Amino acid sequence: MKLLLSKAIDIDVLPGDIYEKNHKLVNKGKINSTSDKALREILKNKKDISQSGLHQMLFVVDGVPKKETFLNVLKEYFPKNSFKVSGVMHYPAGGYMGWHTNSNAIGIRCYFNYSENSNVNSFRYYDSEKDKIIDSYDLAGWNIRVFEVSKKDLLWHAVKCPEKRISIGFKLNTDESLPKFED
Ligand SMILES: [Fe+2]
Repeated sequence: MKLLLSKAIDIDVLPGDIYEKNHKLVNKGKINSTSDKALREILKNKKDISQSGLHQMLFVVDGVPKKETFLNVLKEYFPKNSFKVSGVMHYPAGGYMGWHTNSNAIGIRCYFNYSENSNVNSFRYYDSEKDKIIDSYDLAGWNIRVFEVSKKDLLWHAVKCPEKRISIGFKLNTDESLPKFED
């Protein structure tokens, strides 16, 4: 298990401040790809899915206005580290990203997510030590999550959004490591 940090966070950015354009619906259908059953099936077949391109249904947003605000928050948490934007997504209500590992892009990831309500939208991941699928639910407002993507111990994860959700991802620059997190 390599979800290193997950918590609600206070940031002065309204979702409307995030500019949305070039909405693109990427492959409709296969809604079950975030289900427990789908992951159990994938694990049984011992197949790696680095990207969930075939399963995703999301809106891609070009550009990240206000990225400095998020970078400033990252500075507070990790004063000695540097990050760059790795992805900006806007999930519509009913949007999702299917199970995948990101094993083609290893490293430390940090995501800021905005959901209107608590305990509706979730980042799902597989805890290989406990053999358990865990829902890490967004709380209302902004949330921060940090996790590690490695080839050795794949972190299977998926995103399920009954309601709309904004997701802004940052990647730790290579050759850097993070300070240890408290349990
Ligand atoms: Fe991912």
